[in-house]
Amino acid sequence: MGLGDTVNGMAPAELARHLMRPGTLQLAALPPLALYVHLPWCLKKCPYCDFNSHESAAGLADDQAQAYLAALRADLEAALPLVWGRPIVSVFIGGGTPSLFTPEQIEQLLSDVRARLPLEPGCEITLEANPGTFERDRFKGYRAAGVNRLSIGVQSLNDDKLRRLGRVHDAEQALAAVAEARGAFETFNIDLMYALPEQTLAELSAELDTLTALAPPHVSLYHLTLEPNTRFAVEPPSVPDADLASDMLDLLAERTTAQGWDRYEVSAYAQPGHRCTHNTNYWEFGDYLGIGAGAHSKISFPHRVLRQVRWREPRRYQDEALRGAAVSNQHEVARADLPFEFAMNAMRLADGVPLTLFTERTGLPLSALSAGREAALAKGLLVNDPARLQASPRGFDFLNDLQALFLPPHQPANR
Ligand SMILES: C[S@@+](CC[C@H](N)C(=O)[O-])C[C@H]1O[C@@H](n2cnc3c(N)ncnc32)[C@H](O)[C@@H]1O
Ligand code: SF4
Repeated sequence: MGLGDTVNGMAPAELARHLMRPGTLQLAALPPLALYVHLPWCLKKCPYCDFNSHESAAGLADDQAQAYLAALRADLEAALPLVWGRPIVSVFIGGGTPSLFTPEQIEQLLSDVRARLPLEPGCEITLEANPGTFERDRFKGYRAAGVNRLSIGVQSLNDDKLRRLGRVHDAEQALAAVAEARGAFETFNIDLMYALPEQTLAELSAELDTLTALAPPHVSLYHLTLEPNTRFAVEPPSVPDADLASDMLDLLAERTTAQGWDRYEVSAYAQPGHRCTHNTNYWEFGDYLGIGAGAHSKISFPHRVLRQVRWREPRRYQDEALRGAAVSNQHEVARADLPFEFAMNAMRLADGVPLTLFTERTGLPLSALSAGREAALAKGLLVNDPARLQASPRGFDFLNDLQALFLPPHQPANR
């Protein structure tokens, strides 16, 4: 359901009141609320990346960073009426390359946040970092600024593959960054991709030898996808076919299990006690306020769920945020779309979720999920448990097929 032009022009306090009016959804309680902060610059745009990241080859001048921090402050301030009084369960500073910001600038950002929003005690605060030498020297500073979890974009541990991916660091620098992170942070994540250009199973296996020796507390393992609007879409590299990619995933599963990492989500593997709170909140259909260029938000009210997106281009975002208009688009999630949106996220979790969470998070009766559940059970893609929504091992392997069964009837299956 579109909110229409009326609300797109509304002042935040007026919008908040409008969103509180009666409606057909009945949320008994509001979900946990997380904060996402987008910092949109990178030294160099990677040829596979379609994130909202913009090249800034000379790094980030202090006045550029300060202007952006001021826009974030204005953005947050304007958003407060929508989340009034709600504590923040986790903060994720993502990008782009947030480690282009100095520890002092990140400290400023976090104190701006703390001055406006109550953070829960022990709140997980993650920052994404590139593993270059220059970033690595800043890790201790980020810890002192209040960041308590680092996510390092290693991508590969093979120099040839790193070159093919257009990365600005080599494997040795990545290893040094991991050592530095281990010294400064009690928990951290490594992002790695597989099914890389011309990658063989033996090459992946060698990377996994290095990875298991490093034994990071958390790893995110992504299948490289060739995204439209990237350089790889125009000049596609030769990548492993579906059979080889599937063998690679089997190898990852075998090696990570042997190492004691739990694959708790499609792409996320954690040692005990090191799951990511922030991402788990997304998968459990929790709320998040996203500030910064192009950031997305999902915010619940007693009778509706709101989605927002902010201006994508950094310059435009800054100008609009300073005049209290950072949001470029917003809409109320249609009742008919909620079962699919909930199931799409929840079934990414290996253990799924209790079915009671569906009513709690969407305000809909459980019957709204029945058609999808019955179709999925008939195909053996769900675990047959009347109290949980959980993909079966087969459903987990064919997640897109499983998710499509929850689409509203009028939607085409390949949406
Ligand atoms: C916003 S980027 C993160 C961090 C940081 N800028 C970096 O690249 O090191 C988030 C992660 O998404 C993954 N990613 C980005 N593009 C991808 C693609 N086309 N296919 C698969 N994974 C991708 C990468 O592992 C990347 O670390
Ligand atoms: S993968 Fe990371 S470093 Fe590369 S362009 Fe995307 S956000 Fe920037």
